[in-house]
Amino acid sequence: MRRVVVTGLGAITPLGVGVRRTWARLLAGDCGIQSVAHLEFSAQWQQLPSTVAGTIPVGRREDGKWQASDWLDQGDERRMAKFTQYAIAAAEMALNDAGWKPHTQEHKEATGVCLGSGIGNLEELYNTSIAYEKAGYKKVSPLFVPQLLINLGAGHISMKYGFQGPNHAVTTACTTGAHAIGDASRFIAFGDANVMIAGGSESCIHPLALAGFARSRSLATSYNHDPKSSSRPFDRDRCGFVIAEGAGVVVLEELEHAKARGARIYAEVRGYGCSGDAHHITAPKEDGGGALLAMQRALKNGGIRPKDVDYINAHATSTPLGDAAENSAIKALMLGEDGLDNESQIAVSSTKGAIGHLLGAAGAVEAIFAILAVQENILPPTLNLHNHQDGFNCNYIPLSAQEKQVKVSVSNSFGFGGTNASLAFSKYT
Ligand SMILES: *[C@@H]1O[C@H](CO)[C@@H](O)[C@H](O)[C@H]1NC(C)=O
Ligand SMILES: *[C@@H]1O[C@H](CO)[C@@H](O)[C@H](O)[C@H]1NC(C)=O
Ligand SMILES: *[C@@H]1O[C@H](CO)[C@@H](O)[C@H](O)[C@H]1NC(C)=O
Repeated sequence: MRRVVVTGLGAITPLGVGVRRTWARLLAGDCGIQSVAHLEFSAQWQQLPSTVAGTIPVGRREDGKWQASDWLDQGDERRMAKFTQYAIAAAEMALNDAGWKPHTQEHKEATGVCLGSGIGNLEELYNTSIAYEKAGYKKVSPLFVPQLLINLGAGHISMKYGFQGPNHAVTTACTTGAHAIGDASRFIAFGDANVMIAGGSESCIHPLALAGFARSRSLATSYNHDPKSSSRPFDRDRCGFVIAEGAGVVVLEELEHAKARGARIYAEVRGYGCSGDAHHITAPKEDGGGALLAMQRALKNGGIRPKDVDYINAHATSTPLGDAAENSAIKALMLGEDGLDNESQIAVSSTKGAIGHLLGAAGAVEAIFAILAVQENILPPTLNLHNHQDGFNCNYIPLSAQEKQVKVSVSNSFGFGGTNASLAFSKYT
């Protein structure tokens, strides 16, 4: 099987625009979650039980903030949904970071894109529905359909650079980003491409989206007065997830291809495992069965023993049930056959305390954190973890980053519908 390595990273998160800025603030214990109650649609926000979100800081590119005009010309800005704009910008960062700018037809044909979104362009759908109801057919823009389709992120990236390899868009709710990276690695392993641009993007912070997630009782509602405390994975007082936006994109490359051009290698993609809970649309199986199967498959795929896993970036979204199920699954994996002796040796954190839940982008952004942990031997913290509950006795990297030799890291992502995926990365040696 052809080996796959990571050679470029790009991200836009509530901690800032750019991987370096995000990572530095994450390690410093900063939090990117704010109140949205003062934003546009204040009348609608006031009806909602949750008014906190991880929004992208607005401002100039030099300051690590977002304004579309720094990345797109006016025509593209108008044509593209916000999640596509983020995807284009994160892909540009990742390609620059990898130094991959193919000019020959052969290289363009060997480069593909695999990028998805969980929800896509809800705001356009909402606005167009209202305009159509009020004023009819003439109010529907010719850009309506292309702005709605999930695969247009991947489509626009391929058009911008002329990439003619596989062009694919995953949409598996909150597992999207992880599936996109995993599937892309298989395209390379199987010889369909030598380079893949892979990841996820999301931008759906709108009262209608929060209304829906609040109705399904998924959101944190007790911390509207104190937004930075609202996302608290594994903490006793957690009460739901905090919606967030952004994008994560990686450049994956076949090992010999990367070596031949002298590319910097961040890590190797060692394993990818998927499973379905086959249980319930939103609730996990209590014992974490689906998550366990996904992690076991990722390790088996990479020939890795549980005791060799130095760090797990958990999916843990700060919901009472989800975090508990994943905690059980991680303990079952890590204390089982070929595992560790004591749960205090299990190093696991959830970076959602700092950035919230980026839905379709979460798996990609968190994979980047797992990759950087391997490269820099540092574990990002779980914010707001002040009180443990029974059975939560791993090392969750509470409140501040920890140094540790990391040869192997795992990143978990789970989505509504009961879909679970795990990615394993290792140092390339
Ligand atoms: C939707 O409508 C609101 C309110 O009129 C407007 O501010 C916003 O820019 C519109 N969004 C899109 C994507 O057109
Ligand atoms: C698998 O995905 C489902 C869907 O969200 C999730 O509820 C569940 O937590 C995941 N499995 C486990 C046991 O964590
Ligand atoms: C794990 O280690 C902790 C702290 O050293 C200790 O209190 C606990 O009893 C150990 N648990 C097991 C199952 O050995």
